[in-house]
Amino acid sequence: MPARMGNVIAAGAYRNRIQPPKMIVDAINARPGMIVVEIGCGSGLFIVEVAKAIQPDGHVFAVDIQQGMLDKLQKRMEHEIVTNIKPILADAGGRIPLEDGIADAVFSVAVLPEIPNPTAVLFEIKRLMKDNAVYADAELILDPDFPLRRTMMNWAKQAGLTRTQQIGNCLRYALVFRKE
Ligand SMILES: C[S@@+](CC[C@H](N)C(=O)[O-])C[C@H]1O[C@@H](n2cnc3c(N)ncnc32)[C@H](O)[C@@H]1O
Repeated sequence: MPARMGNVIAAGAYRNRIQPPKMIVDAINARPGMIVVEIGCGSGLFIVEVAKAIQPDGHVFAVDIQQGMLDKLQKRMEHEIVTNIKPILADAGGRIPLEDGIADAVFSVAVLPEIPNPTAVLFEIKRLMKDNAVYADAELILDPDFPLRRTMMNWAKQAGLTRTQQIGNCLRYALVFRKE
């Protein structure tokens, strides 16, 4: 998805209703002090809500491959006066410049199906997770790349992640995984 579409996909009230950020906040059980990584943060609709939920001493790393998206995230951070997000320009299909086991939670929304090798990204996500960390992925059927739950679960299984929870229905879902 090109960065110029960043504001469209995050269009406030509409997206909030059909795919509320609270779904991710709940899925990762966001709480103060956590270290969280989002893969493919786009313009930041989800990460800003997570960043607020983990204040005052939690931190979020926002990974995206497009500087244009990170610029939009920066504007959102300024507008919402959120300071605990660190944007990271990186390809999640390669090595993300963060240390092993840094995260209490990792999440992604509508990203994995855009990436040619989703399993490679899931291995990278697993590398970032602490042993007891969770990974949540949320998808919406309106996305042209929408993966069926079983597709997502297959990719995760190949990377050694086990599903522990599912939220939502066949139109929109969040799946929660832990390391095997
Ligand atoms: C459909 S948008 C979703 C953005 C955001 N998660 C949301 O739901 O509003 C997909 C995002 O993933 C990013 N992305 C695509 N491939 C990526 C990769 N290999 N590494 C990191 N980010 C990537 C895109 O730049 C884009 O911001």
